[in-house]
Amino acid sequence: MSTPSTRQILVTSALPYANGSLHLGHLLEAIQTDIWVRFQNVRGNHCLYVCADDAHGTAIMLKAEQLGISPEQLIDQVRAEHLRDYGDFLVHFDNFHSTHSEENRYFSELIYRRLRENGHIASRDIQQLFDPEKQLFLADRYIIGTCPRCKSEDQYGDNCEVCGATYSPAELIKPRSALSGATPVEKTSTHYFFTLPAFKNLLEQWVHGGQLQSQVSNKLNEWLEVGLQEWDISRDAPYFGFEIPDAPGKYFYVWLDAPIGYMASFQNYCEREGVDFERYWARDSSAELYHFIGKDIINFHGLFWPAMLDSAGFRKPSSIFVHGFLTVNGTKMSKSRGTFITARTYLDHTRPEYLRYYFAAKLGNNVDDIDLNLEDFAQRVNSDLVGKVINIASRSAKFITKGNDGMLSTSIANTELWQQAVTAGELIAGHYEQREFSRAMREIIALADATNEYFDSQQPWALAKQPGREQDVIDVCSLCINLFKAIMSYLQPVLPETAASAAAFLNAPLDWSPTVQPLLNHRIEKFKPMMSRLDTDTLDKMVESQRLALEVEASGHPKASPGEPLADEIEFEDFARLDLRVAQIIAAEDVEGADKLLRLTLDLGGETRQVLAGIKSAYRADELVGRMTIMIANLKPRKMRFGISEGMVLAAGPGGKDIWLLSPDAGAVAGMRVK
Ligand code: 2FM
Ligand code: ZN
Repeated sequence: MSTPSTRQILVTSALPYANGSLHLGHLLEAIQTDIWVRFQNVRGNHCLYVCADDAHGTAIMLKAEQLGISPEQLIDQVRAEHLRDYGDFLVHFDNFHSTHSEENRYFSELIYRRLRENGHIASRDIQQLFDPEKQLFLADRYIIGTCPRCKSEDQYGDNCEVCGATYSPAELIKPRSALSGATPVEKTSTHYFFTLPAFKNLLEQWVHGGQLQSQVSNKLNEWLEVGLQEWDISRDAPYFGFEIPDAPGKYFYVWLDAPIGYMASFQNYCEREGVDFERYWARDSSAELYHFIGKDIINFHGLFWPAMLDSAGFRKPSSIFVHGFLTVNGTKMSKSRGTFITARTYLDHTRPEYLRYYFAAKLGNNVDDIDLNLEDFAQRVNSDLVGKVINIASRSAKFITKGNDGMLSTSIANTELWQQAVTAGELIAGHYEQREFSRAMREIIALADATNEYFDSQQPWALAKQPGREQDVIDVCSLCINLFKAIMSYLQPVLPETAASAAAFLNAPLDWSPTVQPLLNHRIEKFKPMMSRLDTDTLDKMVESQRLALEVEASGHPKASPGEPLADEIEFEDFARLDLRVAQIIAAEDVEGADKLLRLTLDLGGETRQVLAGIKSAYRADELVGRMTIMIANLKPRKMRFGISEGMVLAAGPGGKDIWLLSPDAGAVAGMRVK
């Protein structure tokens, strides 16, 4: 339980949008946050980590429409995927919620009402481009046209990628909707605004309060100097989000309720765990509150959010912790360059801890971009973790297990070296606290180097051959095992899984404190390999499989339904019993009373078969006639509710509109055997 000096800390990372998979950029932030949270807890503070999916907005609405599912179905699916990905990267949340939740509706309305009561909400009519076909207002990114300056075609919304001009979408030549292709029309609508300029003084104090990273306060200060603008917080129906109280047909802009999602997720946690919400969010709270975010969303967290919280009577964050972008092999993550890697593709190929370590080794507390260079990545992991850290345990344990039945010495062979490791622990803790993870990793690896140098200088392998020096061997190796324990204790926030294996091997919990005592006269377990080398082949395969996955995605075909388990193995003989034939569909008709079935007449090169196929959701009867497909020709006729079916046609896909009949290559003729 917490002692009076225990810090109460609440931490968040940015809420990922619920319309797509997580990629390594998301993981950079989640891993940075998770390491810091684990560090706080290991050191005895009470640190909670909450997050959620950011589930509202036009992009999610359109994506669901495109998939033919409801936004609720989409966000449920994505949430399950996000949770699995984060979990597999060993990112531990105390709660992971959704902005599309009752808690978030409650806090969004509460905050909005308070802002309104305080005179911080204004409304006025604005002109906006409207898609007359889709019947919705178009955000800049949904408008395409010709650049008014350089006349390049197909430029998006408000800036030209070719000449760099910025303009308002209305200035585009021949603008069209990216959604329907229709020519947008200007339309007036009433919007609601948050009066940010009213918070100039408050924000000046916040920006110069000394708690922000200097690059962040400089950026915020620039905006303050340019002058604050009112912030448009409403969007017109149709919109997937929360309707604004007393404003029918108007919805909160996704960015209004997104940060409120931090509170909602925490409230959901509090209800479940019986924790007092106010203790963390009341204006006079003594708890600390930190938001880890990327540098692209500083304005939302550094301007709007503290102002909203203040007006609504809540506390402001203690700070926001901003990181840079992730680049891969020196370039911006890009699907076309093969430098875009999803969380799942990474996990399908290699261990999460490798990446956790690499990010830690590169992260400082500034907003500089981090590069994942795949060659350097493998080299770093192999040299530091496998070659230096784990090697200490593997080379020392051998002598202890063989020479002393697993028992460590009763004393420390070199107290200076041991003390050096304990002292380093406090320096390393300071680096973690400041989010100077790369410095922490450098100190830890220096300690591993010192340990390996000590081992090498003592030459236990040579001593072991000298009669009478047996105890010296055990003493040297026992110290090295204790140093390994210290090192793993310091690496615990980064490598939680390996730390657990190390504790099992040491037969003792890891321990990170200035008063830590060495393990003496203590039995350790037999050493088992804890980490293997990462080879560049594995990373090449990862990149290649990502490339293929993106190709499939670009072709418009959805990926295989995740989580559908493969059936049990069968023998080749079982397969050989199937008579697969090319068949031509010579007639197709609806089946009276059946929603899903079509009755197909299939020509097998002389013979015909009647097959009832459940493909009506994807094909019209008339578009199938004449088409070649593949069927199982020797399936025993089955009596079905709507008649007898004499075989089966082969198709793939998740269902609905997405069912694809398998077709043979050109040149196939009906009746040909498929092998
Ligand atoms: O930029 C993004 O990906 C947003 N979904 C982040 C939201 S963070 C917070 F404010 F909710
Ligand atoms: Zn241009």
